[in-house]
Amino acid sequence: MSAILRFIKFYWRSETKHNIKSSFVVSLIENVFEDNRTYYDFSALRRLRNILEQDNTKLKINDLGAGSKTIKNKERSIKSIVKSAVSPQWQCEFLFRLVHYLQPKNRLELGTSLGLSSLHQYIPLREAPFYTLEGCPSLAKTAKFNFKKLKAKNIELCVGDFSKTLPAVLEKIERLDYVFIDGNHQKSPTLSYFEQCLYYSHSDTIFVFDDIHWSADMESAWNDIKQHPKVKLTIDLFYMGLVFLSYDKEEKDHINIIPTKYKPWKMKFKKLSPLS
Ligand SMILES: C[S@@+](CC[C@H](N)C(=O)[O-])C[C@H]1O[C@@H](n2cnc3c(N)ncnc32)[C@H](O)[C@@H]1O
Repeated sequence: MSAILRFIKFYWRSETKHNIKSSFVVSLIENVFEDNRTYYDFSALRRLRNILEQDNTKLKINDLGAGSKTIKNKERSIKSIVKSAVSPQWQCEFLFRLVHYLQPKNRLELGTSLGLSSLHQYIPLREAPFYTLEGCPSLAKTAKFNFKKLKAKNIELCVGDFSKTLPAVLEKIERLDYVFIDGNHQKSPTLSYFEQCLYYSHSDTIFVFDDIHWSADMESAWNDIKQHPKVKLTIDLFYMGLVFLSYDKEEKDHINIIPTKYKPWKMKFKKLSPLS
């Protein structure tokens, strides 16, 4: 199925906040998905992205995962990496809002790249540790430099294949509150990372998966995750998927959510009483 067909299928099944019964999900939509506030920290983060977008420095890339669908060069400029391998600004700001709203302490990211998404998830809760894993040494070096620039002292970057670094970091964290899985977009490794993280999770742990509709393989991984017996709620935003292990409703739920502005006819208007 092509990406367009995958999106049409998602769009057809998507709900807006006006059709949702769970108060937890409605407040998530209002405070995170449809939140338009510009936070004070955004200006430094946007400035850093602007600098990287113009950086012609070439890095030797050693991608241990599924890699880019379009660019296969071993040597790439920082500016081309920002364009094709890093989450766009609006997605990074979504991650910032999510962490800012839910305040998960022990956070982990698989796939650092240049460190832009790491910084967005770290800054809303600087006092708690943030762990991020990257397999490519030159990317990791650049990310560390970016962390220094924004005085991100509490980020620990582990360099190496996830198959080695993930078990070691999880053992160190002990109790995982949040994980963003954005590296090695293939079904079997994705499911393995999920299972490993689950072992260190608790009922309030939040899982965020990037690119769940990137390929048929990733869609299949997402479908398996939805069926997992420990999973109580999944939220499909098309570009990312959120997984929760507890929920304010009895039955398991899988919801596709789209901002109301893209499905305006799903809006419910309050009836005005004749006296109002
Ligand atoms: C999509 S990029 C991450 C983008 C980043 N999260 C952002 O939005 O700014 C995925 C990264 O995961 C790394 N990666 C993929 N597979 C890996 C593996 N098996 N072990 C370690 N790193 C891996 C790649 O080197 C790449 O930098």
